[in-house]
Amino acid sequence: MTYFDIRPKTRREDLYNRDEELRVLIRGIRECNPLILVLGLRRTGKTSLLNVALNETGVTSIIIDCRVFEEKNSIGYKEFINYFLREVNKLRTRHRMIQQIIERIGWVEVAGFKVKLRGPRLGEVMLTQILESLNQWAYENNTCIVIGFDEAQELVKLRGINLLPVIAHAYDYLKNITFIITGSQVGFLHRFLKISNPQSPLYGRATLDITLKPFNYEQALLYLEEGFKQYNMHPPRNVLKEVVDKLGSIPGWLTMYGYYAVKNRKYNKNIIDRVLEKASRIMLREYMNFLKLRPLAAKRYTSILKAVAEGFNEWSRIKRYLEILEGKRISDSIFTQLLRNLVDAGFLEKTSDGAYRIPDPVLAYTIRRHGHKLEVRL
Ligand SMILES: Nc1ncnc2c1ncn2[C@@H]1O[C@H](COP(=O)(O)OP(=O)(O)O)[C@@H](O)[C@H]1O
Ligand SMILES: [Mg+2]
Repeated sequence: MTYFDIRPKTRREDLYNRDEELRVLIRGIRECNPLILVLGLRRTGKTSLLNVALNETGVTSIIIDCRVFEEKNSIGYKEFINYFLREVNKLRTRHRMIQQIIERIGWVEVAGFKVKLRGPRLGEVMLTQILESLNQWAYENNTCIVIGFDEAQELVKLRGINLLPVIAHAYDYLKNITFIITGSQVGFLHRFLKISNPQSPLYGRATLDITLKPFNYEQALLYLEEGFKQYNMHPPRNVLKEVVDKLGSIPGWLTMYGYYAVKNRKYNKNIIDRVLEKASRIMLREYMNFLKLRPLAAKRYTSILKAVAEGFNEWSRIKRYLEILEGKRISDSIFTQLLRNLVDAGFLEKTSDGAYRIPDPVLAYTIRRHGHKLEVRL
């Protein structure tokens, strides 16, 4: 068993300190809960939790990894459906019955996955038919089937197909299907699902929400300690404290540090700084993806994060910082909207006393250290 494997975990014994979340998710799957949301910042372990739960329950599943659409500005519906069908196809080879059921859907050329669709609603009809087939198969086998959308906030970029009525229909009628939707941009995921919007197909549906928080300070130290023990390494506490001070307590960054420390058989400051730099590049790319969709306000977003990274935490002080930088006044509503987008994306967090902070120290570091590059490039 190894904590410092940098891939998403698949086995319970490799997943540190998520027993409660795992218990809730497994129960949700066993009860065939219609809609489960797994929420939390990037690298808190959502995919790992999902993998382990699927592994433990042994249920049949189709997981759509929406990160494949991350770099795109929009997703065409044919591209999406083809991707979906490819995943369905992986199941077909495992279960002949699914193959038979799906081949009954005449107008899908299943073998080559050339989707012939015409008209605006056909994609939705087709997805619904596939889900109905899968539901029927699950029903006949007295089981439940999981349809997962991992990092589903990316699906706001879908064009020409609306997934919400498809999910709503399955929610109401297909009792053997469980949707598991994960998202690291929690606010944007909620905006996509529109569960509290009366005009939305999913309005008012109950969801089972599981939120993964970063480890707390002590858990982070213990995680590192336990992880190193698996390799017979025993770094002193003050080193581990420096790791957590610099990288924070998000499991993914700690795992990455552990991975490189073990690989080099060293855990010194040099390794910590190298991992921070590596992490920072990953962070930068993710933040750039956010900016790419919002080119007009890109500079302002970075200035806001810079203000917060430098210690301006209250609404009015951040606004003042931005105004001085730009040499002009900014309307309250526009400024509030900018803040809200950063919060919804998970780059900022509003604390209970109304202040703003950057929840991931790697992002704060990235903005402080590489923020200037962003301005030049945009
Ligand atoms: N509870 C945990 N125990 C051990 N490793 C974890 C845990 N949570 C996350 N990881 C590790 O952190 C990294 C990110 O996890 P992942 O499941 O991909 O997160 P997410 O899907 O939330 O972005 C991976 O390397 C994974 O192995
Ligand atoms: Mg993930």
